[in-house]
Amino acid sequence: MSTNELLSLTRDLATAHLDALPTRRVGSAASYDELLAAMGGELPSGPTDPERVIRELSSAADPGLVATPGPRHFGFVIGGSLPATLAADWLTSTWDQNAFSFVLSPAATAVEAISRRWLLELLGLSPDMTMGIVTGATMANFTSLAAARHAVARRVGWDVEERGLFGAPEINVLTSDESHVSVFASLQMLGLGRSRVTRIATDDQGRMRPDALKTAIEGRSGPIIVCAQAGNVNTGAFDPLNDIAPVVHGAGGWLHVDGAFGVWAAVSPTMRHLTAGLELADSIAVDGHKWLNVPYDCGFAFVRDGNAHRAAMTLEAPYYVKSPNEVRANHNFVPEASRRARGFPVYAALRSLGRKGLVDLIEGCSRLASRIAERLVTHPRVRVLNDVVLNQVLVQFNPPDGGDADAYTADVIRRVQDEGTCWLGGTTWHGMHVMRISVSNWSTTEHDIDVSAEAILRSIPD
Ligand SMILES: Cc1ncc(COP(=O)(O)O)c(C=O)c1O
Repeated sequence: MSTNELLSLTRDLATAHLDALPTRRVGSAASYDELLAAMGGELPSGPTDPERVIRELSSAADPGLVATPGPRHFGFVIGGSLPATLAADWLTSTWDQNAFSFVLSPAATAVEAISRRWLLELLGLSPDMTMGIVTGATMANFTSLAAARHAVARRVGWDVEERGLFGAPEINVLTSDESHVSVFASLQMLGLGRSRVTRIATDDQGRMRPDALKTAIEGRSGPIIVCAQAGNVNTGAFDPLNDIAPVVHGAGGWLHVDGAFGVWAAVSPTMRHLTAGLELADSIAVDGHKWLNVPYDCGFAFVRDGNAHRAAMTLEAPYYVKSPNEVRANHNFVPEASRRARGFPVYAALRSLGRKGLVDLIEGCSRLASRIAERLVTHPRVRVLNDVVLNQVLVQFNPPDGGDADAYTADVIRRVQDEGTCWLGGTTWHGMHVMRISVSNWSTTEHDIDVSAEAILRSIPD
């Protein structure tokens, strides 16, 4: 089979998968052992015909695929892939560009430069912010906090890139009590420690309390980094950045905002107020593969102080061919050297949606989140625990006899997962086991929401 024929076959397999996506069982249908048996076996001692490899991979993997890009996966915070982004991602693999530098791919360089400009304009941020395209919000948090570490150490005369943290002035790190685990993972990787941070109290929706931050910051001297968030992973709530930023900046600190998915509210005229003060952040972490609906993997680190961003990330070696001065050097904004040209699907998302399409996507998902909450609370045993301001809903199920709500809720979640119409998971929220619903996919319709709400309600035991 020629490469052309192999790709045609692959296209047929891919489109068959896409056609089945809206209606297939959402969760996996195979066990781990079954998948190992279907795909494993001995290490091949010689070549296998590529057509056979692809056909067998496709059929063996299929039962173990989760319909995460489909319209009824409401677990975690999972976006789908807009048609243009999927197509651009195919081209990205075909072109196999190394997005590292201009000499390796002028096109991948230009597309990142254009995406940076468009994203900053859409989000209402300073056009001077620098941007790195990374694998997701975890690495965006890492990259942003590396820039923060550089800047706050430099302010006290310490070069952290050259000297590390050995003998360095202590850096005060203050996070929200509700900061995402990836913030702590980033601090851990940066030598700032996960548990030596000061965690600032939050309110009933998980928003950082500015008064608590003020009290915690008062009297501190030396470098300060504060990690706030736009879009709590459970409730979707936003930290009051307008109140937080002056406290941080008044103390000479750096304000980082983890806005993995919540930041996109800034594009909507009706929801923008939620992100008020975002423009005051020194760095912002955002995901592409969540609400922008580009395929995995993709995230953005935006930094106001471009010198700090570059200082924390710059890679130089004698054999690197220097880019012309006016040209973006992609590798100076991310931890990696060689990497996938993720800018192409980002560009495709922004062009295919335009401003209006993106607003419709964000407002549409948020409307659907409210719709499922409204459907669910019609049942006497259902309690929605958060203000549904974005795309996230937290649900508790209460047994008729006033018994163990945690066990009862866990049982409902398991039944919904087993039933297969939709998929969602659970978490602990303020000491309670609750169901999390996240609506983040361009292809989810009102019908998907209604059948999913019915499936959830059917799963409530008598
Ligand atoms: C608020 C927040 N920050 C960071 C992350 C980590 O993102 P990623 O899994 O893309 O690295 C998530 C993921 O859900 C998130 O919700």
